[in-house]
Amino acid sequence: MKILMIEDNYDDLAILNEHFKKHKDYQVVHSDSLRKSVENFSNEDIDLIFLDLYLPDTLIKLKSSFKSIPIIILTEINDAELAVKALNYGAQDYIEKQDLTASNLIRIIKYSIERNKNMKEIENMNIKLIELNSKKNEFLSIASHDLRTPLSTIYTLSEMLLTQLENDEIKPEKLSKSLNMINDSSRKILDLVNYFLDISRIESEEIELSIKKIDYIQLIHEVVSILSNLSEKKSIHIKIEKSIESIMVMIDAGKIEQVLNNIITNGIKYSRENSSITINVYTKSDFLITTITDTGIGIPENKIGELFNPYKRANKPTGGEKSIGLGLAIAKKIIQAHNGEIGVSSIQEKGSTFYFSLPLK
Ligand SMILES: Nc1ncnc2c1ncn2[C@@H]1O[C@H](COP(=O)(O)OP(=O)(O)OP(=O)(O)O)[C@@H](O)[C@H]1O
Ligand SMILES: [Mg+2]
Repeated sequence: MKILMIEDNYDDLAILNEHFKKHKDYQVVHSDSLRKSVENFSNEDIDLIFLDLYLPDTLIKLKSSFKSIPIIILTEINDAELAVKALNYGAQDYIEKQDLTASNLIRIIKYSIERNKNMKEIENMNIKLIELNSKKNEFLSIASHDLRTPLSTIYTLSEMLLTQLENDEIKPEKLSKSLNMINDSSRKILDLVNYFLDISRIESEEIELSIKKIDYIQLIHEVVSILSNLSEKKSIHIKIEKSIESIMVMIDAGKIEQVLNNIITNGIKYSRENSSITINVYTKSDFLITTITDTGIGIPENKIGELFNPYKRANKPTGGEKSIGLGLAIAKKIIQAHNGEIGVSSIQEKGSTFYFSLPLK
């Protein structure tokens, strides 16, 4: 273990060195100022620092250069108040020089290292909790926002129907229109809730695959045909390159269909009218690669890295389509569960290519 001693009093240093001599495991390096310590040792693997010349300012600077290294303050007698302050500024412990012996040196070092480790764990846990809390808040705001519109449609229409019923004013053609709208809105809510359930199940790692042998090219044709209504509305032409006529693969067809569905739907959502989407499938080593290229609005460079995280949205659909920001996060989990990889490259205003690989063996 390497210990950095920051001490400007050479008599004290001699005593400390004497104590350390009895412990072969410790290699002690020395510096007599904060500046020299940072210059000479901040890039070395230091395990622990003993610091004299203590001032809160020194400690703060030291902690910023030697990030997670435990620091023990050496104090003169009667310096307890200053020493306690040092703990508040992030030192692990303090010891009065007069109390220092070869044996309590070991104890204090071991305790400080252990305490430092525990503190780091708590800090990391705190960061995780803050992240989770903000994710939860983000989720709640998106969920309530997206649920609000269809719910208020149902509420308003059903209230209106009840009043009309009471007053005997219901007309069959209006009733059917209202019921259709209620039906539509309920469908939207159901889709959303299923989606949320999907992501929470997937986030808690409960992704179970039901692997079967299927013709992958046929699956792609099926997905494209399901989406043809959507693409035709925007006059977007979907083309499947004919590089492979058919290929049998072992996958969870339902889940991969979900991935294809989301990526192709994204291509439609984030493209303007009269554009095109090209799907290409080929093999590379032991992998089956699928690329889906659109000529749409593209993705800003600084947003690309985060799109596969839940609720990250980079831009708005061009035709007012729904966008929750979960599709790609779900797709990533599904591809990873198949031991594949997923990614994207994109140029703004030119288009995007999403690709994923699936192992063939
Ligand atoms: N082909 C694309 N072109 C441009 N941006 C895209 C494309 N695909 C995805 N994006 C961006 O990535 C974000 C995340 O995509 P993702 O599929 O996860 O969510 P979404 O489509 O907004 O909502 P949903 O949960 O309904 O899929 C989108 O909101 C969009 O900003
Ligand atoms: Mg999507």
